[in-house]
Amino acid sequence: MAETFDLVLKGGTVVNHDGIAPRDIGLRNGRIAAVGSLGASAAGEVIDCTGLHILPGVIDTQVHFREPGLEHKEDLETGSRAAVLGGVTAVFEMPNTNPPTTNPDALADKVRRARHRMFCDFAFYVGATRENVDDIPELERLEGSAGIKVFVGSSTGTLLVDDDPTLERIFAKLRRRAAFHSEDEARLRERAGIRRPGDPSSHPEWRDEIAALTSTQRLVRLAEKHGRRIHILHVSTAEEMAFLAEHKEWASVEVTPHHLTLVAPECYQRLGTYAQMNPPVREDRHRQALWAGLSAGIVDVLGSDHAPHTREEKDHAYPQSHSGMTGVQTLLPIMLDHVNAGRLSLERLVDLTSHGPQRLFGIRNKGRIAVGYDGDLTIVDLKRQQTIDNSMIASRCGWTPYHGVTVTGWPVGTFVRGRRVMWEGEVLGPAAGEPVRFYEGV
Ligand code: DOR
Repeated sequence: MAETFDLVLKGGTVVNHDGIAPRDIGLRNGRIAAVGSLGASAAGEVIDCTGLHILPGVIDTQVHFREPGLEHKEDLETGSRAAVLGGVTAVFEMPNTNPPTTNPDALADKVRRARHRMFCDFAFYVGATRENVDDIPELERLEGSAGIKVFVGSSTGTLLVDDDPTLERIFAKLRRRAAFHSEDEARLRERAGIRRPGDPSSHPEWRDEIAALTSTQRLVRLAEKHGRRIHILHVSTAEEMAFLAEHKEWASVEVTPHHLTLVAPECYQRLGTYAQMNPPVREDRHRQALWAGLSAGIVDVLGSDHAPHTREEKDHAYPQSHSGMTGVQTLLPIMLDHVNAGRLSLERLVDLTSHGPQRLFGIRNKGRIAVGYDGDLTIVDLKRQQTIDNSMIASRCGWTPYHGVTVTGWPVGTFVRGRRVMWEGEVLGPAAGEPVRFYEGV
């Protein structure tokens, strides 16, 4: 007897661990139940995917969704709309909210707010502080915890741990891979006078490559000393990439689409403070080194570092202007355009956005198109040309640094645990987001 499915995606080209090939996908009870030729199978619903590519759901392992406390920029619901419109099926959200996510209650509060209000699945990083070090083993294991995030250089918000004794204590407690914002706070403080009022192109001069490198070297030293796994977020310099290539046994590497795409000084001339982020977008030699690191396999994952701020906050004169830009909705369109331009293969993109997160963070049941895995799928039209426009941006702040940029390659469908949550630019409810589950957490 033919198998029955809740849903069959027919005629698409599947990109997974097995290569790129035409395959149907059968989904049952939210999971992938069959991959192959499903000719005579019965299905509650059949979606024709002819001409489209089906990727494992894109996992964005760095977003800032601002709830609680900063909802005028974004909230968990609006951020998740932006995510699924961009083909993203799960996000790891950062702890620099207000209050920051630094204790079990704050984490449980975020999980409560997110469950069935977000359209994608979610996990939340817990911020390390001087006060919560002893709680790290518990904080790593709570429902919805993506693990520990440490700001060793300050950015938006109040989270910062830059002293050796506290860092030593944190490293001693860590069990899971921990994520780091890596810039040398002492050097940033020392060089604050380098900023030229009204001139955001001085941002990378202030937060320079030495601040990034010395911090990353320090973190790798601590990882080696304590035998811990670390994840260096948004690596932005040629010097760090060369150093990290020699220390892959301790450190995993994230890069952002912004650092791969935008370049100084042009971005500051064109976008002004809208190109300002931490760590900064730098000159072309760094961008080239990030691409070389990506090609060489040193880079493990892409994170958007989606960091929305209102236009008013961005329009303050530098350096009062806020650091950060939207990105969760444009991560995939921008990267598909790079695929079409020949800068990376579609298989490598999937390695960075699905297999990489699964491997680094031990995500249960996601990140692969394989029988038994969650039915998280991102459907893309590789040929579609589309001009990105501020009016498309679902993020509450309503702007993107890519306004007016035409890309080739576009997400047309997003499925989360077998449910269609986005199709052709429309978000489809009800929102049913659940916590991502981990082998080493819950
Ligand atoms: O530019 C940034 N903005 N970098 C960060 O690390 C934080 C982020 C934010 O939350 O605004």
